[in-house]
Order: sequence, then structure tokens, then C-alpha cells
Amino acid sequence: MIELRNIHKTYQKRSKSIQALKGIDLKVEQGDIFGVIGYSGAGKSTLVRLVNYLEQPTEGKIIVDGRSLTEQSSKALREIKKDIGMIFQHFNLLESKTIYQNVAMPLIISKVPKQDIKRRVTELLEFVGLSDKVMSYPNELSGGQKQRVGIARALALNPKILLCDEATSALDPQTTQSILNLLKRINREYGITILLITHEMSVIQSICNRVAVMENGKIIEEGTVLDVFGDPKHPTTQDFVQTVVRTDIPRNIKANLDKSGITTLTKLEMVGDHATQPLLALLIQKFNLTVSTVFTNMTEIQETTLAIWYVDIQGEAKDKAAALDFLDSQGVRYQEVSV
Ligand SMILES: Nc1ncnc2c1ncn2[C@@H]1O[C@H](COP(=O)(O)OP(=O)(O)OP(=O)(O)O)[C@@H](O)[C@H]1O
Ligand SMILES: [Mg+2]
Repeated sequence: MIELRNIHKTYQKRSKSIQALKGIDLKVEQGDIFGVIGYSGAGKSTLVRLVNYLEQPTEGKIIVDGRSLTEQSSKALREIKKDIGMIFQHFNLLESKTIYQNVAMPLIISKVPKQDIKRRVTELLEFVGLSDKVMSYPNELSGGQKQRVGIARALALNPKILLCDEATSALDPQTTQSILNLLKRINREYGITILLITHEMSVIQSICNRVAVMENGKIIEEGTVLDVFGDPKHPTTQDFVQTVVRTDIPRNIKANLDKSGITTLTKLEMVGDHATQPLLALLIQKFNLTVSTVFTNMTEIQETTLAIWYVDIQGEAKDKAAALDFLDSQGVRYQEVSV
């Protein structure tokens, strides 16, 4: 649905040039809720502005729904942009207009007949749960309600894609969750592809199916949310994952390991049904090993359970090897880690 090929973006500021994007390749499929995460200045907002063609790439190709943005007339671009809705961190509502007028704005600009506008705005405000605020002004609404207006406005022209730039960063955790639930509904009920930008891993965990991690104008890691959360490769990704899923061993547990002279542990990563099956009991019975659990963490991602176990396996080397083969055949990822 969205494809970026070797995208570079350089800003010229007087004599200085800032390379905001340095060769981005990215593919967002129809129906994805694709999250891009990165620290401040990584280039996330630049990336979404390019998809919306608010800015143009210095180099590279952007393909939206099969059409290359760089090769379109301005009329064709206007049509493509109707397929792309966008919501912002600070909502960007017109303070002097009512909620009705804010949501109606894209329809008025597109010269939709008045009675159709009325029907569509009523429907949208009902969808986002704000039917009773039709005649209110933005300053009479809470942050969460303002973002719902922003969402209704972004959906006005029935887009295929919704871009969200830090759409929940100005909201408290509870309101964030309600907005994320609304985005999930939009994705499921209307089949709208969502590309969202955030610096919060909990947002990714909550609704995305794929994630790309950005640093310094580049994508440093990309994959399904389950894979990236289960086995983050890049140190920056590991830092992000640590904020929601504890995958390293807590310090005082480590200190106890040092005391007992344990230097290596086996890290097991189990997903879905495996996470709740008695695999460890099986290892003990089948392979004549002593297996002690040192640390575990279970989390729900993508409505699937992800379990991380650090275990100390003692026994004969050949039994241990057979046990690890068995785990492998069960689809459990394992890794020997020094502690
Ligand atoms: N219009 C601009 N002119 C010059 N430099 C810019 C412009 N927009 C962004 N930059 C620079 O490009 C780099 C990436 O900025 P960008 O806003 O994309 O980061 P970000 O990941 O969205 O950060 P944040 O999380 O703080 O929003 C930064 O170094 C920024 O200063
Ligand atoms: Mg930004």
C-alpha cells in the first residue's frame, strides 16, 4: 500500500545541510497497522510528511497504492492525497470553528453537496462517540475528545491510509488506550491501512502488527511486532523493548547467580500456545535434566502470549543437546547467554 525506495531527504538551512533521511526502504502492506518508532530527531515526522507529500524526497521513490508520487501532475496528486488522512499530536483543529465545521472542512474543500456533508459528519461523529458535541468548540473539549475530532476529520473523505504522527503523545495513559482502541476499530471495520509514528513502545505493543525502528535517518530494525519484541537485535531496539517487556535479568537476580557461580543460562522464547504449555516439566521428565527457572516474563502482544524464560539446565551434555533439539522442534527459540 505504501512503499518507500531508497529515500533520502536533506534539508538546507543557510550554509548547513541536515540529512534527515539516509536511504529508507520500507513496505507497508494493505491492512497493516505499521509502527515507526525512534528517539527525537530520528526522522520519523520527515518520513510521514513525505508519504503525505507535504514534502518531497531529495532522492528515491514513494509509491502509494501503486502510484509513484514523484511522477504525478498536481491534479493527480490531489486525488491521491484524498486517499490519505492524517492526525497530529496537537490535533490541529480550527479553534474558531465548531466541531461540525472542523469535521466538515475536507468535504467542503472537496465541494461535496451540503446534504451529503451533513450525513457524513453526523455518521463520523457518531463513529468516534461525539454526537453530543456537534455545536461545541475545540476549547470546550478534552484532549482525547479533540483527537477524536481529528480522527473524524481525517476519515471524512474515506481514505485508504491513515497517517498518525505521535497522535497519543499529548494524552494520559487511559485516554491513549481509548484512542488506540478507536484506531484498531478503524483498521478492522474499514480496512484502513495505518502508518503510525511514535516514541512509545507501548503504543506499538498495543496495536501494531509490524514495526520499524529508526535512528539517525535510517531504519535499524524491522519486522513483525512479535519477532521484534521477542528477539530485538539492535541495542536501540533492545532499549525500546525493555520499556515494556523485561527481557534482561534484573540486577539482584544476577548478583545471586554470581554468588552461586552460574555463568551461563539458557534463554527460551515461547510464543502463543507454547507459552502456556508445561514444556519445562517435559524437559525434566524426558531428558533427565535438572531445570531451574531463574527469571521469567510474560506479556501479551498482538493478542498472543510471549514468554521469556531464563533457565539453568544441569545434566549430561548429550541430554541437554537432545533437550534443546526437542525445544527447537517445538518452535521454541533458545539461546545460551553469559551472565
Ligand atoms: N523543515 C526542516 N528544516 C530543517 N531541518 C529539519 C526540518 N524538519 C526536520 N528537520 C531535521 O531533520 C531531523 C529529523 O527531524 P524529524 O522531525 O523528522 O524527527 P522526529 O523523529 O520526528 O523527532 P521528534 O520525535 O522529536 O518529533 C532533525 O535533525 C531535524 O532537526
Ligand atoms: Mg516528529
